[in-house]
Amino acid sequence: MPIPTIHAGCKHFGSGRLQALVNAEGLEPVACVDLDIDGAKRVIENLNNDPPADLVNRVYSSIGEALEHHEAEACLIFASTTAHAKLVIESLDAGMHTLCVKPIVTNQDDFKAILAAQRASDKNPMLVQGQNKRWNPAAAKMREWLRDEGGIGEMLGGECRFWIRQNLWTGPDSRQPDAFVEGLYFHAGASHQLDQLVAAKGLPQYVTAHIHNLIDESLGQTGVWGTAGGNALFEYENGAPFTYAGTRSGHARSTGWSGAWSFHGVDGDLQRDHGSLKLWRKGECVEDLQLQDLHGGLIEDDRIQFDSFATAIATGEGREWMQTSSLNTWTLMEACNESARTHSRIDMAAFREGLFA
Ligand SMILES: NC(=O)c1ccc[n+]([C@@H]2O[C@H](COP(=O)([O-])OP(=O)(O)OC[C@H]3O[C@@H](n4cnc5c(N)ncnc54)[C@H](O)[C@@H]3O)[C@@H](O)[C@H]2O)c1
Repeated sequence: MPIPTIHAGCKHFGSGRLQALVNAEGLEPVACVDLDIDGAKRVIENLNNDPPADLVNRVYSSIGEALEHHEAEACLIFASTTAHAKLVIESLDAGMHTLCVKPIVTNQDDFKAILAAQRASDKNPMLVQGQNKRWNPAAAKMREWLRDEGGIGEMLGGECRFWIRQNLWTGPDSRQPDAFVEGLYFHAGASHQLDQLVAAKGLPQYVTAHIHNLIDESLGQTGVWGTAGGNALFEYENGAPFTYAGTRSGHARSTGWSGAWSFHGVDGDLQRDHGSLKLWRKGECVEDLQLQDLHGGLIEDDRIQFDSFATAIATGEGREWMQTSSLNTWTLMEACNESARTHSRIDMAAFREGLFA
């Protein structure tokens, strides 16, 4: 039986996620939530693949109102970033398993508040930061080569470069929150790549990071702290260093949202650009694969994520990994901001303890 699910945030990016929810087998949309009810209804009218016939009549302006009319066990949140904390807490207070797209929140107080809401519930709800770029076959293969037998073995070092050009203007007088909320380069730009690292290797022991200060009105970059790009050095327990350099204010050649990667291990080396993956051993390329990277519109990526969420809820399979690693991605991105703000090297265990205690 698919899990009855509320979908909050239906327009813009949320519209494709609503399609992904309809496409998913493990979740069933029972109600939608959006401040713009008519706009959400227009999105529902344009859904493909047989959405529930009367979903268009089940749109509400709050989660509470939706729950007055329908029973739900899960909630997907794709509303504006600035509404996430309130919606996540409302969902957890109602005991629903909750997946909220990155950035699940934008500051440490809100992060502690959502963890407290999860702990306060007697229904043991799952809490996941939605990260759709770890699920495609190319990302899954990279994770396998990093983590499992037959890959690079123990990691000795690695790097990721991320280079896109992203216009943060959404209209003549409006910009994405990424342009006016501090620190959203790491939480919203870098998290797309580095979540894939956390999903495979967990958290490093130490983090040192810096942000790029850029003013470029044409991209909506007005000099708000931590919005343009950043560099980071992660040090793992075995001493392995990993370096990251990313910008969303780049020019010309793009690495795509997945980034360009290389890793060095005791048993081999790994290279990845988009869907191209190579595994090297002793100077020879032993596997050279071209796999599906991000799907157009990211609908299939989110469909896989939603079905994995459903499986985790229903059977427990992957539950600990999905929840812990996705919240650890938020923790790592916040540690990058903390390091860049304080010009210090962050001890991840102590930093995490401060958030999760
Ligand atoms: N993972 C990805 O690849 C990816 C890509 C783009 C955007 N995003 C994330 O998706 C989220 C949505 O982005 P967007 O550009 O569509 O945002 P948006 O501001 O356009 O809002 C999306 C929807 O949320 C609704 N909304 C706003 N406040 C609400 C509230 N309190 N209750 C219910 N509905 C509310 C709006 O009416 C709109 O329909 C952001 O957090 C963004 O970071 C993720």
